[in-house]
Parts: sequence; C-alpha cells; structure tokens
Amino acid sequence: MQKEATSPQEIVMQMVMGAWVSQTISTVTRLNVPDALKLHGPQTAIALTQRYGINADPEFLQRVLRACASVGIFTEDADGKFGPTVLSDVLTSDSTVSLKKLTEIFGGTWWRIWTGLFDAVRTGQPQAKAQLGMEYWDYCKANPQEMEDFGEAMKSNSLSSLKAVLEQCDFSDVSQVADIGGGFGHLAIELVKKYDRLNGIVLDMPELIPIAQKHVANEDSDTISRIKFIGGDMFEDVPPANVYIMKHIIHDWDDTSCIKLLKNCHARMEGNGRVICVDAVLPPVGNTGSTPAKFLDIDMMVFIPGKERTEEQWNALYNAAGFKIVSIKPTHDNLGTSIVEGIKS
Ligand SMILES: C[S@@+](CC[C@H](N)C(=O)[O-])C[C@H]1O[C@@H](n2cnc3c(N)ncnc32)[C@H](O)[C@@H]1O
Repeated sequence: MQKEATSPQEIVMQMVMGAWVSQTISTVTRLNVPDALKLHGPQTAIALTQRYGINADPEFLQRVLRACASVGIFTEDADGKFGPTVLSDVLTSDSTVSLKKLTEIFGGTWWRIWTGLFDAVRTGQPQAKAQLGMEYWDYCKANPQEMEDFGEAMKSNSLSSLKAVLEQCDFSDVSQVADIGGGFGHLAIELVKKYDRLNGIVLDMPELIPIAQKHVANEDSDTISRIKFIGGDMFEDVPPANVYIMKHIIHDWDDTSCIKLLKNCHARMEGNGRVICVDAVLPPVGNTGSTPAKFLDIDMMVFIPGKERTEEQWNALYNAAGFKIVSIKPTHDNLGTSIVEGIKS
C-alpha cells in the first residue's frame, strides 16, 4: 500500500497520481488478469502470457501488476508471482458486485473524453464530440459493443441503489411502472419480482432494446411476461404508467431537457401517480462534505450537457414540471445517490 501522505505536497501528489492508478487498474482489468488469477491462482507475468492467454508484453505486464500490488489489488511474493485479493475479485466477471465493465470503460472511451476536461471548463461545452467525433449517445448507437458495455456497467453498479429502491419505495398499490432510460431493465425486473401484480415498461433507445432483451433472456417466464421493452425517445413521449422511475437519467441532461422529460411523465401519468428519480442530491453551497457525486458532476460536465443538482435545484425542476418533492432518501451507494420522490402539485 502507498505510505500515508503527510505533507501538503505528498497529499496533492497522491491525488494527482489517482489518474495513473485508475488507468493502470483499468488496463489489467481489460487484459482479464483478475479473472485469470481467480481461476488459476498466483502466477508470474510470464506464465500469465504464455499459459493463461493474457495478451501482453511479459515485462510490461510484470510492471503494471507490481504497481497494482502496491495498492492492494493483487498480492506479490518473492518469486514474482501475483495473486488475487478481495479487491481484484471485484474486477472479475463473475463477482456478484462486479465493477469489471465499469473499470474497463473508465480506462477506454471515458478516459479519452476526460482528456477534454480543460476545454470543457474553458468553453462551457461538453467534449464527447471533440474527442469521439460525435455525441456520446450517438457514439453508442454507432458502436454496439460500447452500448452493451455501457449497459452492463450501469447494471453492475446499480446493486446498492436498486436494493434501496426496493426497501424504501412502496409499489404495493401500483399496477404499471415505467422505467425511463431503463437500460437492461434491471430495476423494473427487480420491482416486478417483488410485487406480483405489478407490470413494468422499460423505455430506452431503440438500438439498446435488442441488447437488453438478450441480457434478460434467462429471467423466469413470469417476470418476462410482465416486462415490456419499448424503443423510443423519452423527450418525444413516454408510455402511460402510474409511477415513473428514472435512475441516473436526470443528471445526464440540462434543465430545459429535464423539464420537458418530467412534463412528458406528468402528461401521461395515470391515477395518483408518482415520479421517482434515483440520482445524486448535492449538499448545499458551502458544504465541503466529500461525496463521489461532486466528481460524478464533473463526469456529466465533460460528457454530456448534464449535471448533479442540489435539493434546491431538484425542487426547481420538479416544480417547473408540475410536481412537488415529497421525500429525498439516500441510498448509500458508491456514487452518492438518493431517491427523489414526487407527486403532482
Ligand atoms: C446513465 S444510463 C442509466 C441506465 C439505467 N437507468 C441505470 O441507471 O442503470 C442512461 C440511459 O438513458 C438512455 N437514453 C439516452 N437517451 C435516451 C432517449 N432520448 N430516450 C430514451 N432513453 C435514452 C441510455 O440508452 C441509457 O440506457
């Protein structure tokens, strides 16, 4: 492990080197080293390349593994063998709390976009187009593998916030929930599994729907029969439902787009409905509390015209679309996400 920083220079240096740590961990994950060590036990870099299919230069691989071992991702012994740890397990494909896809994307496309942060801050414009040649969602449409990886990354990092929605939101009197921008449908699927009279609609971009349907093919037939995937544009229209749920959607967009989307939900809402957004709520101005949401906000800035919002900003959005917030509950996930529940005002 790195020694504890004490001087201001050491503290700042460790923070700045965080980008290198992130890229190094992403690289070994993209090479599938965590999976190989979990399967075959401790190995040298040469054995990993010669016997276990890791496609890398052995000397360079040994050096990235050594760096990873210094931050606890792998063990390292005096024979030059690297072994799995509880941290590397999170980077494997079959971990129940896998961060593999998310970590891979961090070091791939997202790393490229983040190189534009300086320009984003100078110009007030997101930089996906400058870095990828097109906006991020268009890039996903043009690259189905990116779209699938992104969907998987979102799903695998949703476990805690999803559990919080199941525990904290009551759907016992609801017959139709619409998960807008629902990705692989993971949230809607867990909800219909918990409530046997509930039906779910998952609305997402048409290009994502066949990928999502492939990923849910192994769900039981009752669950599948109560989930409908619809391809469409949420800014044009949303399907009718009693409850609209949107997880990590509002933070992707500017205020005008968010109000349009919330108004679409308002217009189509049936009965005494609710709108539930699962997203970060930033602490108010002057509160320097540490939350991952403050850096997720920078991710939104550099990627897309989105942002994280304070409670005051959330209230303004809901009110502009004809809703009022009735509760805000933290999910205690690793992104600082809360559940913002509202009803028609
Ligand atoms: C940040 S992801 C969130 C996915 C999912 N709700 C979750 O939290 O795991 C945003 C989702 O919005 C979808 N999306 C983007 N633009 C959309 C649009 N115009 N209409 C419908 N869905 C859209 C994306 O395909 C993606 O699945």
